[in-house]
Amino acid sequence: MKRRLIIPLLAATLLLLSLWGCAGQTDSAEDTEEAEQDLIVVGVCQVGAESDWRVANSESIKAVFTEENGYELLFEDAKQKQENQISAIRKFIQQKVDYIVLMPISETGWDSVLQEAKDAGIPVIMVDRTVDVEDESLYTAHVGSDFEAEAEMAVAWMEETYGDDQVNIVHIRGTLDSTAQLGRTKVLEEAVEAHDNWSILTQLDGDFTQPKSYEVMCEYLSRGDQDIHVVYCENDNEAYGAIEALEEYGYTCGEGGVAVISFDATKTCLTLCLEGKIALAVECNPLLGELVEEVIQTLEAGGTAARETYAEERCFTREDLTEAFIAERAY
Ligand code: AHR
Repeated sequence: MKRRLIIPLLAATLLLLSLWGCAGQTDSAEDTEEAEQDLIVVGVCQVGAESDWRVANSESIKAVFTEENGYELLFEDAKQKQENQISAIRKFIQQKVDYIVLMPISETGWDSVLQEAKDAGIPVIMVDRTVDVEDESLYTAHVGSDFEAEAEMAVAWMEETYGDDQVNIVHIRGTLDSTAQLGRTKVLEEAVEAHDNWSILTQLDGDFTQPKSYEVMCEYLSRGDQDIHVVYCENDNEAYGAIEALEEYGYTCGEGGVAVISFDATKTCLTLCLEGKIALAVECNPLLGELVEEVIQTLEAGGTAARETYAEERCFTREDLTEAFIAERAY
């Protein structure tokens, strides 16, 4: 339901008009005139604030869906719990929002609540991750990353770097059942299957956070000396936790030591990459606000939005980076 925003014309506008010599043409009715504008109400249900990427993603959404741009934004932080996301969607339905934007924490468990949104006639746009539902019409569009394509960049780098050498990998997974985890894990596991010289020493669950990654990595390293070549971290914050643990246990990260691979490529990660502690940073672009707005504007104009919109992404090694380049990055 569009909300009507009443904007009283500012005295400053009248003052400006008088300076332009138009004051004589402004009658008293115009003095009290009010501008009216329909706001598009968008309910956004964010996963939480588990990572630097997530914070940048929330900022990108908040920067676009402003009153100035014609929107009323209702923003819910689900604190990494699916039940909170489901409650938030039900609240948005009661509030009769025009659009629901969902960053789903996991892929499964959405059929009922999305059916409720569909029955209420509210289009749902998946952002960042997506969902696995029986009826694809339960959501209108997905705007996010191609997580498998990201992981393929990491695999290609490992192939090029190690050739026929043995590669022992510690794999730190993100939040289980999230699209980001499923895509990045699938591609790695398939690549390990396809390479006789690659093996996964252990798979740990870092839940996309630094403290959890540090904790599971410390627990693994405390079992004794490990012959680790690569630590494949499914996001930057996991990489920071893993590096902290590795260094505490006497390992070197970088040249001649453990190669840390990270996904997201936020500024701190790129700085660590330039310093040589992170070997490969695969970009996951959090700046999705404008792409989401394009979908909403297409729908507002009566058009059909693209089913999938992927952000452009690339990967970085130390050689690709300079301090100036990192400083200019938006996240
Ligand atoms: O879904 C995107 C992932 O979720 C990002 O890689 C990670 O940092 C975030 O928490």
